[in-house]
Amino acid sequence: MIAQIHIEGGPTLRCESGSNLLRAALCEGLGFPYECNSGGCGNCQFELLEGEMTDLWEAAPGLPPRARAAGRRLGCQTQVVGDCRIRVRLKPEFVAVKAAALRTARLIERKALTHDMAEYSFMREGAADFLPGQYAMLRLPGVTGDRAYSMSNLPNPEGRWSFIVKRTPNGHGSAVLAEGLREGDQVGLDGPYGLAYLRPEAPRDLICIGGGSGLSPLKSIITAAVRHPALATRRIHLFYGGRTPADICTDQILDEDVALRERVEVVPAISDGLPSNAPWAGERGFIHEVLQRWLGAARDAREYEYYFCGPPPMTDAVQRLLMLERRVPATQLHFDRFL
Ligand SMILES: Cc1cc2nc3c(=O)[nH]c(=O)nc-3n(C[C@H](O)[C@H](O)[C@H](O)COP(=O)(O)OP(=O)(O)OC[C@H]3O[C@@H](n4cnc5c(N)ncnc54)[C@H](O)[C@@H]3O)c2cc1C
Ligand code: FES
Repeated sequence: MIAQIHIEGGPTLRCESGSNLLRAALCEGLGFPYECNSGGCGNCQFELLEGEMTDLWEAAPGLPPRARAAGRRLGCQTQVVGDCRIRVRLKPEFVAVKAAALRTARLIERKALTHDMAEYSFMREGAADFLPGQYAMLRLPGVTGDRAYSMSNLPNPEGRWSFIVKRTPNGHGSAVLAEGLREGDQVGLDGPYGLAYLRPEAPRDLICIGGGSGLSPLKSIITAAVRHPALATRRIHLFYGGRTPADICTDQILDEDVALRERVEVVPAISDGLPSNAPWAGERGFIHEVLQRWLGAARDAREYEYYFCGPPPMTDAVQRLLMLERRVPATQLHFDRFL
């Protein structure tokens, strides 16, 4: 059955009953605001004025109880069941740059990177058409709710989608990926989504900053950047942080690709205190502190284009440093919080 969603003061969205509201709106070319697609950020809030919709995750942290009581909902956690009237401010910057689709994908490879991180590759019919830095939603067997994972590879005509995933303690999705799936098993793969993609037209050197699994989209971005003619003379810096040396796998990533080894200047850092005489040639401290030291007084932070991804405490600290302390315009910051 086709449902009609009347957006107050805007267009009417027509979609199949049972669709996810946010994804149906993006699919129709509407600029429905969002970020995480996972119920965590609250950017996709809208007001339900008339009609019924199904809430997919009532306890989603992105919707405070007061907002829910006031009739607000999360677009990414709403299933359309029939005709409705809603209020949401559509914005052009959220219009999808690539068309997303949900299709079956097959696990073809699992490659260990560290003690708790691996790169998983899936094949899906049709080209893997995304921009470096974007993510997809994985529908995993036995897991309630889709999980967002950022692509670590480049777009390709063969249909290969790769993701670097960190095992989360007690996490369901990352456990199924690490232990529940065997090569050949099928999952649902819906994408691409996301706005933190490479902007080759930006006339500035690149600084990529990541912690943990934040390496996944950064690997895609730097791999694309070293090959892009418009970025041939740009310097590319990768700041990557983990707790201990065992978390750092940037050497493995660079060893896979001679162009990365030649062009990318890596600053690895560990945040857990090691005895000062323990062997570690990189930096020490949280990655935003390391970046702050590197920028110091001599470098103008506004002369770079920034891409950063990882756990929210890390992305929030980097955002504060760059926007509040170093006055970098928001248009030069591209990031995903792994909520
Ligand atoms: C834009 C984005 C990109 C990301 N990219 C990566 C990446 O490349 N690599 C990586 O390792 N991690 C990434 N993450 C984090 C990833 O999506 C998971 O949160 C993480 O793997 C932990 O999932 P889990 O299932 O193991 O843990 P769990 O604790 O089982 O689940 C955590 C997450 O699952 C979702 N969730 C939980 N319950 C429900 C429910 N009932 N309904 C709907 N959703 C629910 C929520 O988003 C929650 O944060 C990304 C997150 C975002 C938002
Ligand atoms: S996009 Fe819906 S809560 Fe983040």
